Amino acid sequence: MVKICGIGAGYVGGPTMAVIALKCPSIEVAVVDISESRISAWNSKKLPFYEPGLEEVVNQCRGKNLLFSSDVEKHVYEADIIFVSVNTPTKIKGIGAGKAADLTYWESAARMIADVSNSDKIVVEKSTVPVRTAEAIGKILSENSKSKGIKYQILSNPEFLSEGTAIQDLLNPDRVLIGGNQDPQGLDAIQKLKDIYAYWVPQDRIITTNLWSAELSKLADNAFLAQRISSINAMSALCEATGAEVSQVSLALGKNTKIGPKFLNASVGFGGSCFQKDIMNLVYICESNGLTQVGNYWKEVIKVNEYQKSRFVHRVVTSMFNTVSGKKIGILGFAFKKDTSDTRKSPAIDVCKGLLGDNACLSIYDPRVTEHQIEKELCMDGVECVNVVGDAYEATRDAHGLCILTEWDEFKTIDYQRVYQNMEKPAFVFDGRNILDVHKLREIGFIVYSIGNPLDQCLININIIN
Ligand code: UDX
Ligand code: ADP
Repeated sequence: MVKICGIGAGYVGGPTMAVIALKCPSIEVAVVDISESRISAWNSKKLPFYEPGLEEVVNQCRGKNLLFSSDVEKHVYEADIIFVSVNTPTKIKGIGAGKAADLTYWESAARMIADVSNSDKIVVEKSTVPVRTAEAIGKILSENSKSKGIKYQILSNPEFLSEGTAIQDLLNPDRVLIGGNQDPQGLDAIQKLKDIYAYWVPQDRIITTNLWSAELSKLADNAFLAQRISSINAMSALCEATGAEVSQVSLALGKNTKIGPKFLNASVGFGGSCFQKDIMNLVYICESNGLTQVGNYWKEVIKVNEYQKSRFVHRVVTSMFNTVSGKKIGILGFAFKKDTSDTRKSPAIDVCKGLLGDNACLSIYDPRVTEHQIEKELCMDGVECVNVVGDAYEATRDAHGLCILTEWDEFKTIDYQRVYQNMEKPAFVFDGRNILDVHKLREIGFIVYSIGNPLDQCLININIIN
């Protein structure tokens, strides 16, 4: 029986290992993490984060062929294949600060694997890593296991799941990418990993490459997706200036089969743990290789994203007669996208901080994000005027304006007539996700700003933006 150990029980490791356990009943899967609290959440009724369908998968396998444990060393020792899904944040100090990936967690996991192992193992990179990390990891493992005569094969098998649809993405992936050494031992390891995915993924969707191509493909993948969003967001500014509608531009673009319809929704900006981190990582790799122009090209994707967030704050403040000081603003949505409780790099953080910088009073509601998490993200020191509340009506009562910052479905079906009645007048709506019916809201009496849409007549006069 093959034994798998997944190191890192986070947003990537947890769902991925759970789906492998579901689809491969004859394989024993142990998910380990140094965080005791994370592991006890995985072993409880309330999983550590919200992800549609995850609970059902975990409930089907936990206690059968899926277990969660903080005894990292035991399960690494017993495993034939080890998936490493530890965090790889951007370095915050030292060489490459703000760009390069911090591989501290990865290296410490690799050294631990070398210390405890007593048999040959396949080590699979799941977390996004800089190109040629596998080479470095391979060196750490082999140099530290020489006396034991153990052989390691390192594979790169980047994860392409999106939060909010992680289980569907894992059950039915567009493709599975496996990179490995192209010598007989490497090819043998690739085949072993292929055999696992073959339990449920059609053969023609399993792509094999060399190690470096797989590592770079993951960075390129996220960079391309983020670039599409920044491109449509750049268009949204132009639409506002010219009176075009960005959703119609997206529709027209998406019908071009050479372009395709996905990732063309204009928004207040992209968030999430991956896009910015991976692009900055790519930029660092470009610069390290003397490719400054290439690095600059990708940096612009981030700059447009920053512009989009600050442009939104600017719109709110200027629309509300150039002052939000002391005014209550209802914030609907704090997660970085719908159907997740994750707030990492959520555009809501920068928008809220921007409004707080202008002394607004925020009343925040998100269906899945806890008060504690929101306060942590806003680094509150007690002087800010922030309330986290339990529903959209409470968030908007007596408010001068409301901002939609996450595209949760429930925000589309709110009774906006009731919201309007309970707000100060004039009542403003700022739709950062383009999900509301602008005409209906205007009929009710709201003054509406919606990303990438023609401006309200009264905003045209007061809202001149460079
Ligand atoms: C992303 C990649 O999609 C996935 O392949 C990779 O494995 C991890 O990173 P994730 O960050 O979970 O996944 O979510 P994604 O759906 O890509 O959304 C990222 C951000 O872009 C969100 O803030 C989302 O709201 C925003 N977005 C997405 C837009 O603003 N417009 C769009 O059209 C799509
Ligand atoms: P991701 O979104 O990439 O999955 P997370 O931060 O959600 O990132 O998860 C990474 C997990 O890896 C965390 O729960 C962290 O505690 C765990 N981790 C980091 N280093 C180690 C290690 N050396 N051994 C075991 N777990 C680790």
